[in-house]
Amino acid sequence: MRPVRFRAVVPAAGFGTRMDAGRPKQYLPLAGATVLDHALRPLLAHPGLERLVVAIAPDDLGFGELAVASDPRVDAVTGGNTRAESVAAGLAALGAQDRQAIVVVHDAARPCLDAADLERLLAESTPPDGGLLAIPVRDTLKRADRDGRVACTVDRAGLWQALTPQAFPLAVLRDALAAAVGAGAVTDEAAAMERAGHAPRLVEGNPANIKVTRPGDLPLAEAILAAREGRTQ
Ligand code: CTP
Ligand code: MG
Repeated sequence: MRPVRFRAVVPAAGFGTRMDAGRPKQYLPLAGATVLDHALRPLLAHPGLERLVVAIAPDDLGFGELAVASDPRVDAVTGGNTRAESVAAGLAALGAQDRQAIVVVHDAARPCLDAADLERLLAESTPPDGGLLAIPVRDTLKRADRDGRVACTVDRAGLWQALTPQAFPLAVLRDALAAAVGAGAVTDEAAAMERAGHAPRLVEGNPANIKVTRPGDLPLAEAILAAREGRTQ
């Protein structure tokens, strides 16, 4: 079977304030490379990838140093003040496309995506709604009051945590993001699609696909990658 063809946008213009590492978290060392290298790897390894645009900060010093910067499929553009603006800049750089083009958006801060999850996402994210990797909420959820005490327990039935990558028809996502930017918190592409009346498919993903957010997440990512490496040897 021919691979699904797709383009990709990787927002990498944040600083990683919660990581508090003194430099952008996507450039921190991880398992012999950087966090960003590992985030890009499964996308670049997929035979269906046509083009990949990385959105970087205006004062970025790290991207040009990476080996992937010279891959002919890869381009960098200047991102924006929010994740949604960075993704929109990446989509604009992909240019006018045929209406069938699929774009995959993946966080620079998720270095543990596995190939099987990407493959399932591509297979199940059909037009026009697209889809996203997500995991059903496992823990009991509490809503806090202002004193940090439990106000109530929230029913977790039907609740999922959204991950990336997320995959949508490029032109549909571009219009949805343009309409959503400035309209308040749009923390992932699916939220913009929802505002535009779409119902993206929830594709159950691997919980190991963590977002490196706080300092303790880096050793966790290291362990996940090491365990995977051990299995493939
Ligand atoms: N991102 C971006 N442009 C922004 C803000 C975030 O491209 N203006 C990217 C980040 O680089 C990251 C992804 O969006 O790959 C997910 O965001 P998050 O984990 O929140 O990263 P940061 O915003 O960098 O971290 P923090 O919120 O702790 O500052
Ligand atoms: Mg952020």
